[in-house]
Amino acid sequence: MITDPFDSGPKGVFKALCRNYPDDTVFRGADGFRSLWGPIFYRGRADGSARLLVVGQDPAQTEAVTRRILSGQAGRRVQGFVEKLGFTRRYLMMNAFLYGIFNQSMALPHLHDPDIEAYRNQWFEAAFAAGRIEAVVTFGNPAFEAWQSFRATPVGQSVTVFHHRALHPTADKPQGPITRAELLDNWNVALQALHANIAKPDVVKPLVLYGSDFLPGELPEIPSRDFPMGLPSWTRSTDFWASMSSTPGNERANISIVVP
Ligand code: URA
Repeated sequence: MITDPFDSGPKGVFKALCRNYPDDTVFRGADGFRSLWGPIFYRGRADGSARLLVVGQDPAQTEAVTRRILSGQAGRRVQGFVEKLGFTRRYLMMNAFLYGIFNQSMALPHLHDPDIEAYRNQWFEAAFAAGRIEAVVTFGNPAFEAWQSFRATPVGQSVTVFHHRALHPTADKPQGPITRAELLDNWNVALQALHANIAKPDVVKPLVLYGSDFLPGELPEIPSRDFPMGLPSWTRSTDFWASMSSTPGNERANISIVVP
C-alpha cells in the first residue's frame, strides 16, 4: 500500500489565482512561450504557511508533466538548496513566467508586459498576505527582475523581508561561461546570507556548504507532498525522464517520456 502524502492543491487566494489566469493570448506562442503545455503555477505550500519564497524562471518539460514547477534537474538542485537551509516543507516556489519558454530571446523581453507582470505580482501579494515569509531567494536574472518589479509596487514597498539574488540552478551550461564550481560558490554565498536571516526553518541544523560539485545527497528527491496525487515515485527521484521532442517545426509541442 502506498501512503505517500500529496499536494491536495492551492488554498484561498492561491486557489483563486489558479482558477483565473492569463491564457495564450497573453503568453503567446508567437512570443516564444510554450503555451500549448498550459500554465504551471507553483510547488510547495500554496496555503499561506510558507516561510521561504523561492522564485525561478519558467517551467520546462518535466514540470509540464508533474504540473509543479522546479521538479526536474533545476528542481532537484533547488530542493537540495532549501533543505540545506532547513526547509523540508514550508516553502513556496513560483516562477517569473507562468508558462514554459521555447525561445528565450523572444520570450524574456515580455517579463514586464502589463498582463504578465500584474498576474505575477498577484502571486507575490498572495505569498506575503499571510505574513509568514521571512526570506526570498531569486534564482537567475528574470526572477530577480520580477522581484524588483514587485518591490516597486505599493504592496511590494511594504515588504521588508530579506532577499538574496542567486544564479539560476542550471546556469552552468556545458558551453557557457559559468562552471559548476562557480555556480556552487555563488550558492554558498547565498546559503550563508539566507541562513543568517532565517529564524524559523522547519528543521534547525548546521549549515553545510557545497564543494566543487553536487554530492548525491545534495540532489534529494522532490517530496511527494509537493506533487499531485498518484505520480509514480520515479518522477521524483530521477532526472531527465522527460525531454522535448526535436521534431523540426514543432518546437512548441511534443514531450517524450522514457520511464527509467
Ligand atoms: N523549472 C522551473 O520551474 N523553473 C526554473 O527556473 C527552471 C526549471
